Amino acid sequence: MTPPTAGAVRLVDAALEATVVLSFSRVGYAVRSRLAGWPQDGGFTGAGRRFVVTGGNSGLGYATTAGLLRAGAVVVFSVRDTDKGEATLARLRTDLGVEAADRAGFDLLDLADLSSVSRFAANRRAEELPLSGVVHNAGAMFATRSETVDGLEHTYQTHVVAPFRLTTELLPTLTAAGHARVITVTSGGMYAQRLDAARIDAPTGYRPSTAYAHAKRAQVVLTAGWQQRFAGSGIDFHVAHPGWALTPGVEASLPRFRRVTGPLLRTPDQGADTVVYLALSDRPDQRPGRLWHDREVRSLHKLPWTRSGRDEAAALWSRVCHDAEVEPAGR
Ligand SMILES: NC(=O)c1ccc[n+]([C@@H]2O[C@H](COP(=O)([O-])OP(=O)(O)OC[C@H]3O[C@@H](n4cnc5c(N)ncnc54)[C@H](OP(=O)(O)O)[C@@H]3O)[C@@H](O)[C@H]2O)c1
Repeated sequence: MTPPTAGAVRLVDAALEATVVLSFSRVGYAVRSRLAGWPQDGGFTGAGRRFVVTGGNSGLGYATTAGLLRAGAVVVFSVRDTDKGEATLARLRTDLGVEAADRAGFDLLDLADLSSVSRFAANRRAEELPLSGVVHNAGAMFATRSETVDGLEHTYQTHVVAPFRLTTELLPTLTAAGHARVITVTSGGMYAQRLDAARIDAPTGYRPSTAYAHAKRAQVVLTAGWQQRFAGSGIDFHVAHPGWALTPGVEASLPRFRRVTGPLLRTPDQGADTVVYLALSDRPDQRPGRLWHDREVRSLHKLPWTRSGRDEAAALWSRVCHDAEVEPAGR
């Protein structure tokens, strides 16, 4: 049989993308990963590379940690308490074997506390080992509006302010690697929202999914901002959305969605696949600063009214620098 042409493959991919539901579900992954042109894993390895993964004890963070370890990398994953760290190491030993699990270690990090972020970053700097990448994976949807110990709205701090501070404080160890990547896990939910820097902390009328989508949109805009400011620094910035995957987070915060989507949800490994790919493959670095899904660059907007200009992106950058109390020194 004649293999499909590149044009035919692009057509199938675009048709999936247009449906949203099929694209985000396990159907999207199953179809795309069988298409000709799907980048094969054979060309990349984690050997000799060291990564930080936030929220490595659960869902997509665990799958990312396991994927990087399987490829031969060293991983420092973050947890919020020591018991979760020990339980995750035990699970990695069972799932991957002792050799791979021995390349993993954990450290405590609570993104809802900026002093914890700085402590975590200081611990990495003190190790005096280069970092090949950071995966900003940790996140959650909060049922009601609340503020952190730093006086910032929880969703905004967890997804936007704290990762921004962590990246800034890890810049020396990332630069030391010669070539490093910062990868952020956003959500397809961000397609529903326009960036609104002034109201990113939901000062009034809090709705969990709206606050979450605003924060996830901000992650995408900031990734482009980092790339623009740090082009040529040896660090590339990528952002990926995982589609919909069945994780403890989805079960806890979206029980109705989980019931409705049921068997359509991806496995955590399928959701984390593009994140692991971005961490290990060199191909994405030819197109940095972009949004990825299923190993391909995706559009930033599905609805015309979600577009915003450079001024809004600049306003977000200034606001986050102010709230994170850092000023990353780019170009
Ligand atoms: N699953 C999906 O379909 C989906 C879709 C789109 C985007 N995402 C994104 O994917 C990422 C992972 O989500 P998941 O579905 O894997 O959820 P999950 O199973 O609930 O895992 C979330 C992880 O984030 C950690 N975390 C939460 N708040 C934190 C904080 N303040 N400080 C440090 N760590 C914190 C959690 O730690 P604890 O265990 O201590 O709570 C956990 O390790 C999130 O950014 C989420 O928004 C997921």
